[in-house]
Amino acid sequence: MTYTTRIDLPPMVRQQIVKLLQQRLNDAIDLEAQLKHAHWNVKGPQFFQLHQLFDALHDDIEGAVDLIAERITALGGMADGRLSSVVKGTSLASYPLGARGGAAHLDAIASALSRFGVGMRQDTEVASHLGDTGTSDLFTQLSRETDKLLWLTEATLDEADGGEVDA
Ligand SMILES: [Fe+2]
Repeated sequence: MTYTTRIDLPPMVRQQIVKLLQQRLNDAIDLEAQLKHAHWNVKGPQFFQLHQLFDALHDDIEGAVDLIAERITALGGMADGRLSSVVKGTSLASYPLGARGGAAHLDAIASALSRFGVGMRQDTEVASHLGDTGTSDLFTQLSRETDKLLWLTEATLDEADGGEVDA
């Protein structure tokens, strides 16, 4: 559903873009909750560092949630922030309840960030193809930010588990 607006993008384009944005909004809200889960539940000798890291990542993703939602409304759409819709629509894997130590939580968060980034990068291309360069630019910005958050997470994981070198 899209409302009337004076934006010069055709309604059909806006409807398709709003659908993409809603999918990424579902992922972003899920990711936000997963980061709080990690922030609260991580245990081990690196507790304080990881407790703070997960909260900092959460704050970044909270910003992404708002940017995506307000792009939906700018295009005349309705940003569906209901948790029941997020549960049905998210493309992220369910957070592993068995995660306890730092490495397990870092691994779960790295996987979630990676999945979030995949959707964002794919949608950058689709939005550009549909002629909505504004949304494409938003996805580009958010995918670059997600790459950075993934780097922070993986660099910390490297310290937590001893690390591996790519062949
Ligand atoms: Fe807290």
